[in-house]
Amino acid sequence: MGRLMVAGPHQGKGIGRKAIEMVVESLKARGINELRTSYGEGPGSPGPFYKALGFIPSGDFYGDDGEEIGVVLRW
Ligand SMILES: CC(C)(COP(=O)(O)OP(=O)(O)OC[C@H]1O[C@@H](n2cnc3c(N)ncnc32)[C@H](O)[C@@H]1OP(=O)(O)O)[C@@H](O)C(=O)NCCC(=O)NCCS
Repeated sequence: MGRLMVAGPHQGKGIGRKAIEMVVESLKARGINELRTSYGEGPGSPGPFYKALGFIPSGDFYGDDGEEIGVVLRW
């Protein structure tokens, strides 16, 4: 998927969760059974967000130095 960004004043209101749910419903309707993304760790990382939604590490790493951790949500 592309980059997911929620404007600062509107973060923490459930918009990101809703956006992922809508993507999942769209993928389900197309017979796809997983969603993959990646992110950098450290301060401000969206890792806790993806963990809260049920994403788990996929074992893949991305970026020139493998600094982006790959995660996957399966259903
Ligand atoms: C990461 C981002 C997309 C999350 O969207 P959001 O609308 O703020 O998240 P939601 O309000 O839908 O949160 C959903 C869940 O994730 C949790 N969560 C979200 N951000 C979190 C954080 N920084 N730390 C801990 N938990 C977090 C929420 O507590 C919530 O859990 P709950 O529903 O069990 O209470 C948004 O904060 C953002 O755009 N951040 C900056 C850009 C970025 O990092 N983009 C991702 C690039 S891959």
